[in-house]
Amino acid sequence: MRTVGTFAEARELASGSVGLVPTMGFLHEGHLSLIEAARESNDSVVVSLFVNPLQFNESSDLAAYPRDLDRDAALVRAAGADILFAPDAATMYPSTPLTSIEVTEVADAMEGAHRPGHFAGVATVVAKLFAGLQPDSAYFGRKDAQQLAVVATMAEDLSFPVEIVGLPIVREADGLALSSRNVRIEEHLRSPALSLSRSLFAAADAFDAGERSVASLRDRVRRGIADESDAEAEYVEMATAAGASITDTITDTVFLAVAVQIGDVRLIDNIHLDPRTGIADRGVRLETSSILYGGH
Ligand code: PAJ
Repeated sequence: MRTVGTFAEARELASGSVGLVPTMGFLHEGHLSLIEAARESNDSVVVSLFVNPLQFNESSDLAAYPRDLDRDAALVRAAGADILFAPDAATMYPSTPLTSIEVTEVADAMEGAHRPGHFAGVATVVAKLFAGLQPDSAYFGRKDAQQLAVVATMAEDLSFPVEIVGLPIVREADGLALSSRNVRIEEHLRSPALSLSRSLFAAADAFDAGERSVASLRDRVRRGIADESDAEAEYVEMATAAGASITDTITDTVFLAVAVQIGDVRLIDNIHLDPRTGIADRGVRLETSSILYGGH
């Protein structure tokens, strides 16, 4: 495994089919599951690590974002990737970019409505990664379901010849969706943080039992979060996997997504619901504590 800082070095080292896993670092098993999937289907696996200032609408969130390049490099190596592309900000943005990629409609609701400029920052940096690294496929987690829809739309609209692969959410044994931001959750707020997965799983159980009303499923989640006084829901929304908002009855594969403020940490989570199988996809749970908390 080689760590490089420029697009040219990364392209030179990669050969055959190239799988890209874009990340902002402070890796956990969610990221590692993407690297493993990329490893299975490609000759070269490139992991990118860049805390992208363009997508942070709160400067305090950018400043507090956890970083540890040595830790991440060891994890990327152990997961079997070939190249770690970790550019500095001056390489990624030699000057303030005058070009921004704005995806409409799929980027408008949920995260887009609550984090102005966020998805333009994501779409722009992912387009730069696609252009600069020229991957054949790129791997994204369904943890960020709307981001996946935005990236897929951007890649199709701009004719990037990249296959976009979406993979299940990885969770702690207690249900909490893995996130690099979890290390910022204070001990006494751990239980309130579980209100996201707990309330989503209650909706998942209702879906498994036949509930198809969007309002009723959203209500269940809203009530579950309202029960927890230290958790404040920002939104509880449903959209198709492609990112179109829905409010009536589930007829297509959808995700039910929440954003919740826990202390000064903002968490998101979702479940995927497929009316054809009739079984809610809650993601996968680790058996022991994740590497974010010293587990393996
Ligand atoms: P980051 O939050 O580091 O996430 C990198 C990838 O890991 C994303 O595709 C995300 O959906 C996935 N991921 C995060 N937590 C996961 C979990 N618990 N289970 C499965 N996958 C998970 O998302 C970003 O970085 C950035 O926006 C990026 C796409 C790199 C652009 O800057």
